[in-house]
Order: sequence, then C-alpha cells, then structure tokens
Amino acid sequence: MTKTNADKRLAELDVDELEEAEAAVELARLSNEIARHDELYHRDDAPLIDDAAYDALRQRNEAIEAKYPALIREDSPRHRVGAAVNEAFSSAPHSVPMLSLGNAFEQSDVEEFLSRIRRFLSLSEEAPLEIAGEPKIDGLSISLTYENGKLVRGATRGDGQVGEDVTRNILTISEIPTTLEGNDIPALIDVRGEIYMSHADFLSLNERQEAAGAKLFANPRNAAAGSLRQLDPKITAGRPLKFFAYAVGDSAAMIEASGGRIATHSDVIAELQSWGFPTNPLSRVLSDAASLMAFYDEVGAARATLGYDIDGIVYKVNDLALQARLGFVSRAPRWAIAHKFPAEKAMTIVEAIDIQVGRTGVLTPVAKLAPVTVGGVVVSNATLHNEDEIERKDVRVGDWVIVQRAGDVIPQVVEVMLNKRAADLPRFEFPTRCPVCGTKAERAIDPKTGRTDAARRCLGGFGCPAQAKEQLKHFVSRSAYDIEGLGDKQIDAFYEDELVREPADIFTLAQRDEASPLTSLKNRDGWGEKSVSKLFAAIDERRSIGLDRFIFALGIRHVGSATARDLARFYGNVESFYQAMSAAYDEESDAFQALSNIDGIGQVVARSLSHYFHEQLNRAKVENLLQHVEVEPVEFETISSDVSGKTVVFTGKLEEMSRGEAKALAERLGAKVAGSVSGNTDILVAGPGAGSKLKKAEEHGVQVMTEAEWLALVS
Ligand code: IVH
Repeated sequence: MTKTNADKRLAELDVDELEEAEAAVELARLSNEIARHDELYHRDDAPLIDDAAYDALRQRNEAIEAKYPALIREDSPRHRVGAAVNEAFSSAPHSVPMLSLGNAFEQSDVEEFLSRIRRFLSLSEEAPLEIAGEPKIDGLSISLTYENGKLVRGATRGDGQVGEDVTRNILTISEIPTTLEGNDIPALIDVRGEIYMSHADFLSLNERQEAAGAKLFANPRNAAAGSLRQLDPKITAGRPLKFFAYAVGDSAAMIEASGGRIATHSDVIAELQSWGFPTNPLSRVLSDAASLMAFYDEVGAARATLGYDIDGIVYKVNDLALQARLGFVSRAPRWAIAHKFPAEKAMTIVEAIDIQVGRTGVLTPVAKLAPVTVGGVVVSNATLHNEDEIERKDVRVGDWVIVQRAGDVIPQVVEVMLNKRAADLPRFEFPTRCPVCGTKAERAIDPKTGRTDAARRCLGGFGCPAQAKEQLKHFVSRSAYDIEGLGDKQIDAFYEDELVREPADIFTLAQRDEASPLTSLKNRDGWGEKSVSKLFAAIDERRSIGLDRFIFALGIRHVGSATARDLARFYGNVESFYQAMSAAYDEESDAFQALSNIDGIGQVVARSLSHYFHEQLNRAKVENLLQHVEVEPVEFETISSDVSGKTVVFTGKLEEMSRGEAKALAERLGAKVAGSVSGNTDILVAGPGAGSKLKKAEEHGVQVMTEAEWLALVS
C-alpha cells in the first residue's frame, strides 16, 4: 500500500495539531491500517510490524478519538473483538447484591403486592403501612462506594453480584459528588441510583453523532449506557449524563451512623440529598392501594413533560425495619415492586413466521416483521410464544399486526388487524416435526392434570443439533461458565466441525489441538496463534467453578440461576448434589422429598431435575465433564448461628410471624427449611394445631420446640 502525500503528512502530524476534518481522515486510515495488521497477525501469522509499532497505531487512534469523540467510527478498532483485554473494565463484586424488581401491570397486581406484605408481616388490614412511591427512571443502575465520604468506586449492576468497575467514567459525571458533605456519613456506604440522559441532551448528542457520520443511539437509555461504558473516560466526559440516587446498599450502616434518626426510606433519600445527591422531586409517601394508583396516574400523566424517560413507578415499604423483616425472594425484594406503564405500540406486516428450536427443544414461533419503530427502537422480530397463541390470535403470514414493546422485553404481537387481511391468506400450519433435525415434535400431556403442554418440543434431545448447540451456548454464557472468546458464533462453528459436541469437549480442546497440528485451531479462519492461546487460557481459568454456576450451566429445564443457588446452598458440594439427584427418580424416596421440600423448589422443578439425572445421556455428559473440571463447594453469606446447617420444619400456626418470614429468617441464619419431617430433620417448630408432622417428629426422635423457644434460640 503506498501512501498518498496528503496521508503521509497527516500521519506525521501530532494529534494536537489535527483539525477536525483531518482527524476524520486520519481515523479512517488508522482503522484500515489496524485492521490490516490484525489480519496479518491473527489470520496469516505473518506480522509486518512489531508490537510496539502496532501499539503506537492503536494509541494514536485512541488519542484522536479522545480529542474528537464525535468522530468515533462504527468500525473503530476500539470496538473490534480481539482488542487488548487489559483495556476492558475490571470486575467489581458488590458487597450487597444489586437486586432487580418484580413487576406489576394492573391495579390487582398492586393490591396483591400490598396484601402479600401484610400477610408476611402478620399485619391486619387496618394497621397503617407507609409506602414510598417514586418514578422508575429508565437508565442504568450504578453502585457508588464512598469510603469516609470519598468516592472510591463506581460499578455497574452486571449480573447483580458482580458488575464492571467504571470508576474513571463516573468521576466525569458532575452530578455525582466525589466528596460527601453533611452529617452522620458512615465510614463505608454504597449509594445506588440511576444514570440517565435527558431528552434534550439525547437529541443533541444524536445530532452531533449524525454530523460526524457516527452511530446514532436508539433511545436515551442506550445512549446513557453506551456513554458510560466507554473505555476512554474522556469520551464519557463529553457526554451529558445525569444521576438520581434512590437507595443505599446497606441501610443498617446509615441507621447506625445517624444514631437511629433515620428510620424510613424517605429519611434515607432526604439524607442522600443533604449529602449532595440529586434525588427525584416527584417521590412521595403513600398509604393504601388507592393512593398508590392515584400517584401512578398523576405521574403517568406528567410523563411526557418530565424531560427524561421513566417506565413506571417503584413502590417501596417505607419503614426500614419492616424492609429488613420482609427480605428477598431470589433476586427481588419483597418490600418493593415496579408498576410499569403500558407498552408502546406500532403497526406492521408479518413477512414470515420462523420456528426456532431452543435449548430444551421447545419450538418457538417468531414473526419476521417489516421493520417498524416502536418506542424509539426499530423492531423486526416479535415472539409469537407458542402454537396456541398463533391459533388464538390467528396470525398469518401477510397479516397487518399491532406490535408492542415494553422496556427490555422482546416485542410481542398484540393483535391482528382482521379488517386489513387479504381474502386468500392461508392459516399458519404449525410444524409437527423439528425444522432442524426432522424428529417428531410433540406436546406432552401432564399425566396428573391431563392438560396438554403449551410448548411443542422436538424429541431429538441432545441428538438435535439445534438443542445441542443451544445447550452449549447456555453452558458458556455469562451467568454459567462465562468463557471469554467462546460465544455463540464459535460454538456454532466448533459444533459443525465436530470439535465440541458436549461440555467436556471444551476442556479437552487444547489437548486435542496439540495432538493434531495439521487441523490446529490457529489455522482456521478468524483465528491465530494469539487468539487461540487466549481462548485456551480462558478455558483453563474455568476448570474450577462454584457449584451454583455448575448446576445452572447444565441447562436443566426450570433451573435458573436463583434455583441453582438454592440447590447449591442446600447440597453444599457436588458429590452430595449428584448423589441426591441420582436417588431422586423414585418420588417416594427421601431424596425426592427432601429436594421438593427445599424452599423455592416444588414438585415441578424437583421432577425436572430427577428426570434429567435419570437420563443416561445426561449422566454421561455430567460425568465426562466432572473428569475435567473441579466444582467448588459454595459458601453463602449467612450469619452463623446455633441453627446453622440444621434442617428445620415449621408446622401449626405461628403467632409472632408468618410462615414465610419464619422460613426466611431461618435461612438467613444458615438453617435449611424443609416442608416435611424425615430422618434428616433436626428441629420441628410446632405451633398450635400441629398434627401429623408433630407425630412423625416424635417417631423420628426429632427435637420439637414451640415458636417462643425457637425465637429464643435464634434471637
Ligand atoms: S430500587 C432493591 N428505585 O429498576 C431495589 N430502582 O428493575 C432496587 N430503577 O435495576 C431498585 N428507578 O436500575 C429502584 N426509583 C427506583 C428506580 C429503580 C429505576 C431501576 C434500577 C433497577 C431496576 C429494577
């Protein structure tokens, strides 16, 4: 490649000397140049320049982008996979998990939320219950750690347990105080809130992007997220990000520092405001369902005038002591809920109906739509859920339909516009064979209820390439094995070429690669020496993994990450887990009873697990995997107490607290709560009216105590 004179001159200029127009030309040249060297290095194993010269190109590119953020190209080297890993954000574990919220859509959901709280707390209908209502800001949540009033870390939510460290970018947001001023500031506190972009700032950012020929953002939320997750904080600095504080990680620390002055969520918010945080001015303390609904309507009506996006209202029990008693269910607090605003809608045409085959063989129909903008996002796919749904709505290829999209959920077809239907459109015929492997696809009938399952499943199991691939993709996904460099694309290719057919194969890849130099990975398209060794290193890093992730990674039906955590907590280590699962097929067995009695796990999940482990193919898959990986017992944060590790059963009427609260408290103290008495039970807490469980406990010689004795033991 010969350089033109002008290029040569530009390439020799210092970044400081470049005018905007020149910078654009120079960025285009660098993007090409770096791509060419990437290919030479990775694909051809024939680098033309040494590492230092290559790094200098990248640094120059970065420096120009930092000076002219609006000029960042869509094909900028910064976005390219295989970019230096050390540039990425480091992980930031949250000391208090960042939770999500359950959703309410209708008034009845809100009423149910309130009565659930009253039931859990054993509060009568008349007892007062304060609820804080505040707008649900549509941005991205952030946790800000302050040590002695100084901002030391900013972290994204990530998976709720571990986020990304974005401290350097957070420091560029002027609305976020770097030093707290005010009274009673705890030595250590996580302040949580939402980073967002106003409508006005979003529009002008997109104007600048357009003028620079750069990528446009679909909505303010994406713009805020994209701006915060910049590797170069100078770019974030040029983006107008804003912040509302709405919680703290550990309110106990705040209560203590205030000497008990702070007792409610609204106190927390007022205190955060006094320390210098922006808080939302619309927030209000409410009382009953009617006042919650009135607030929802009022804020909903003002929505278009706020100047920033909100997607609902969050209701929170105001009293912090009650919040602590209510605790959490899997990943959401019992004391809060998000009441969503109705979704936005648009009209378009169904161009085709595709059938996708998922990890567990479910055939999911997807409508391919003529692209249409819904709520600021271009939509071209919508889920049709299942066969019955297509039937019920009578969706046909060629129909005009109304689609809606709410928040992050997959767009849905709400209704077919029958008045616009052409006379001769044929009904859609749902396939009865798997479109991928051709095996029969059936709808199971529940033997107990006689009901037909909504899902039609391919019976090909692991022999169906679609299922096998989806299972492998799940296995390596973020919340499972999280293997960097092994994504959907690589799994598809490795599967097709028979390099990886089951999880264990991932862990023998390196060994096999070494044994057959001719077909070595590094000679494949898109791979080179460097990327292959990186991949192998990433795989090696996962040869040891926590039991909860291990269970989740198997991709068993109904076993999500919260359930996997419950199982890991209950069984402690992989040996006990595997042994119990192997013994649980007989539903009369103690193993099955114990499994289905774990809090949060019922018959359906228990059956799914025991059937999975009964299947010879699955057992072989797990055992093969266990030859190559180690599974770490998982230590969960519980307060150690006299009941840690004991199995407790509650029966009869409890007077001081509800059954749910008693269970949650026991678990926080490290006990296992079971639903029925067996040889494994250590303690039976029996209230008035206890019957057969009490008798059984006496037969088994289980220690029996009253609620008062139990409370004395755990308090
Ligand atoms: S409270 C334990 N309050 O909604 C309670 N969240 O679906 C945690 N959000 O990830 C959240 N506005 O990003 C809370 N006023 C508000 C909020 C809010 C927006 C977001 C937040 C969270 C998500 C939960």
